[in-house]
Amino acid sequence: MCGIVGYIGPRQAYPILIKGLHRLEYRGYDSAGCALISDTDNHLNIYKAKGKVSDLERSATGKDISGSVGIAHTRWATHGEPSEVNAHPHLGRSGYITLVHNGIIENYATLRAQLIKKGFSFKSETDTEVLVQLIEYTQQKLNCGLGNAVRNALRLVIGAYAIAAIDSRRPHELVCARKSSPLAIGVVDDNSEFFIGSDAAPIAEYTDRIIYLKDEEVAVITRDAPIKVYDLKGHEAEKEIQHVSLDLAMLDHEGFPHFMLKEIFDQPKVLTDCMRGRIVESPYGHQPAVALSAVTRHRRELLRAKRIVIVSCGTSWHAGLIGKQLIEHFCRIPVEVAYASEFRYSEPVIEHDDVVIAISQSGETADTLAALRTAKDHGALVYGIVNGVGSSIAREADTGTYIHVGPEIGVASTKAFTGQVTVLAMLALALGIAKGTVSQEEYETTLRELSAIPAKIERVLLQNDKIRLLAENFTYAHNFLYLGRGCNYPVALEGALKLKEISYIHAEGYPAAEMKHGPIALVDREMPVVFVATNHDALYQKTISNMQEIISRHGRIIAIVTEGDEQVKAMVHKTIEVPDTISALTPLLTVIPLQLLAYHIAVAKGLDVDQPRNLAKSVTVE
Ligand code: G6P
Repeated sequence: MCGIVGYIGPRQAYPILIKGLHRLEYRGYDSAGCALISDTDNHLNIYKAKGKVSDLERSATGKDISGSVGIAHTRWATHGEPSEVNAHPHLGRSGYITLVHNGIIENYATLRAQLIKKGFSFKSETDTEVLVQLIEYTQQKLNCGLGNAVRNALRLVIGAYAIAAIDSRRPHELVCARKSSPLAIGVVDDNSEFFIGSDAAPIAEYTDRIIYLKDEEVAVITRDAPIKVYDLKGHEAEKEIQHVSLDLAMLDHEGFPHFMLKEIFDQPKVLTDCMRGRIVESPYGHQPAVALSAVTRHRRELLRAKRIVIVSCGTSWHAGLIGKQLIEHFCRIPVEVAYASEFRYSEPVIEHDDVVIAISQSGETADTLAALRTAKDHGALVYGIVNGVGSSIAREADTGTYIHVGPEIGVASTKAFTGQVTVLAMLALALGIAKGTVSQEEYETTLRELSAIPAKIERVLLQNDKIRLLAENFTYAHNFLYLGRGCNYPVALEGALKLKEISYIHAEGYPAAEMKHGPIALVDREMPVVFVATNHDALYQKTISNMQEIISRHGRIIAIVTEGDEQVKAMVHKTIEVPDTISALTPLLTVIPLQLLAYHIAVAKGLDVDQPRNLAKSVTVE
């Protein structure tokens, strides 16, 4: 939700800021802006545009974009509609101080009323403009520099923020701060250059040395000097520099028309990366074994858990539902799966020997982070399953496993989902074998099957053209039903979510049998119904009965079936085949055609697949 970028150093800031904004555009894209202190006269130049970063570039064309210090922002609107006036950076009343912000200032109405009494006026509807005027007021009142003004102003603020600010009277300085919203500072070895980003993506090509601020820390960055970090009371904090490397190639389309399609096709490779060094040959022979360092380190706490609670949002929540089935099957530990946004306000009953698993692609989702903190407050061990290396959830969890699928840029999550399920399967097997709740034979068979999943996904991807042609028949639809049972029920939910997110077609995922208790009333000749109906378990024949119920009402069925399934093929309009695997791992294959189906329907409708309306990839507000 909103991306912020900043630069101070010897180079021209504008191209660095614009490139950084493109890299963060997945976080929000309804308006964009930048501020630069001009090389020629130290004048503050601010450019803004409604729309995407490319619109900002067009609006800045031909203007003075010089300057070696600057800040920039790409917005996902919270307070105030997307418009040029509400776009960041916002300017203090004297015209010198300007600010970009990601987060929500919860007490902005009170602060605004107090500032109005002191003679301030506001141009925008944003909470951010209140913050910049508060900094301006504090600076005048205390007659201090920008760092002190920011620090003292933030002491009055309730809410979440990651901010970067500059003052055109102080072109040698950039100040940033954070609380509950992410912020990374890239530092070049000799302190000659500093890069600010909401995450490492806009920084990675310049340096791998990153400082992450803690909550309520303010960094004062002065040209050619070591960075100074303070808490809000003004005590200086020691900061550790972390080395974070990103695969820069992952930040490009690599010849695919969209990030989403590239990321769907990335899955065989990144799932292999995810398992590398974790599924190994046992030291006693050629049998496979799973080795997760987090499980080795926290074996005692994990094995004594009587209950596991999974907290997450969106697609990560769907992965959590599959994780529940995997852990309950292999470990016989009861698992609850909670929406992080509900969990955090629910007075959760958490015992100190419960384990809480926080699943998050970004590692920055505000609700998941808050749920993690609640769980820690209750004394539970928190296990993070995260993609964002060095992200807040990765840092604050007691332990965890990275999914290592590389940066995911498309707003609709694809490879992160299969990475999360892969880690959950490895975790369930590692715990199950340690507890003795899975037989050696099932453990080895499942690990061999898991290792074979990337090659099987390749086979599903070969049907891309077929799925594209099929998708073109369904652009007319206003509603879709996705049905599945057992391990395929969470896949039905995920398929429906993918379609909603990028094609704007209303879709509902349902347990196939439960559909009789309501959604069946919607079925007519127009209604596409996607069944996820693989044939390896007892639920297969039951699912076929549910299909018959739809056929009797003339629904148009697309069925995801196991290769060679002639029974369903003879019954329904269209089938897409996936290779056979064991029941527990089926979601890793059945979700692939649903990702492709949603993608191709959205493309056929001419929609912006990677940046669908109203959504943002990283939801850093609650
Ligand atoms: C947003 C994204 C989804 C994602 C969800 C949770 O809604 O658009 O793709 O599943 O947030 O994000 P997380 O980063 O915590 O997995």
